[in-house]
Amino acid sequence: MSKGRIFSGMRPTGRLHIGHLSVLENWVLLQKDYDCVYGIVDWHALTTAYENPEEIRYNTREMLLDWLSAGLDPEKSIIMVQSHVKQHAELHLLLSMMTPLSWLERVPTYKDQIQQLGKEGKDLSTYGFLGYPLLMTADILVYKADTVPVGEDQLPHLELSREIARRFNYMYKKEIFPEPQAKLSKIPLLPGVDKRKMSKSYNNDIPIASNKEEIEAKVRMMVTDPGRVKKDDPGNPEVCVVYTYHKIYNPSEVEEIGQSCRQGTIGCVACKKNLSRILIKNLEPIWEKREYYAQRPQLLEEILATGNKKASQLAEKTMEEVREVLGV
Ligand code: TRP
Repeated sequence: MSKGRIFSGMRPTGRLHIGHLSVLENWVLLQKDYDCVYGIVDWHALTTAYENPEEIRYNTREMLLDWLSAGLDPEKSIIMVQSHVKQHAELHLLLSMMTPLSWLERVPTYKDQIQQLGKEGKDLSTYGFLGYPLLMTADILVYKADTVPVGEDQLPHLELSREIARRFNYMYKKEIFPEPQAKLSKIPLLPGVDKRKMSKSYNNDIPIASNKEEIEAKVRMMVTDPGRVKKDDPGNPEVCVVYTYHKIYNPSEVEEIGQSCRQGTIGCVACKKNLSRILIKNLEPIWEKREYYAQRPQLLEEILATGNKKASQLAEKTMEEVREVLGV
């Protein structure tokens, strides 16, 4: 039996944090059972960052470093940059001919995001932003990917992708595109150090590309039980960010830590030191790999050149079929 094909992507809009690391670890595992294409989707980044595009190239390189250091293997997977495989744009354009406007307007994230990001001063009443999920559809369909590992927030986009694939196949009476299915996985939700959603824009994130001192500083900033004033006050671990992290990164000790906290026999400073140590131990091999690649810019170029070329070949095959049925 031939393997299924995966496409997934990330927008190079800023540094990745350790929450993304679990997503990447999942991508790494999928390399074994699927033919994977992983894309740095820089055109998607432009849909919201079109006024300040200067950082996209830098972020693309940083993202590649994060991906490789997390264990994505260019020998096993195709690692590509969206803007270097023009077939994504061609398919986006051709699909736009047969996509009802109402399908795009009713994507639930669309109006929400326009409002949300509008408050931050971004004008997203653009053609490109309306087409965001269609471009995403093109990313997936151009490789005939049947499986798409994504977070729950992307489900409406995948639904649209299936509708487009179905409509296309039906309209041109040829089974060209599979209907791509989302693959959700249990990714633990890591809060930021201040307990809000982890995000670079809140500066409450723990970047993958950091170092020992930064980790220690970030862990010191973590919000603990505000009811604990003195070291031996009994605490409530359930409201503490440090404890949430122990649950994820330190399963063998978490029970004991919870008890000691409730009894007031372990102080927050010691508890944080312990967590820093564990996070650093987990991240060290990743930092080492990152450093290895960071010092080899030539190798990075080659990895992308190879990935882009392989991706183009696959995409071109699909496009030949598409052009044929469309008579162009
Ligand atoms: N929209 C996705 C996100 O923000 C990124 C993305 C673009 C993507 N194209 C894709 C994900 C294709 C999966 C498949 O996370």
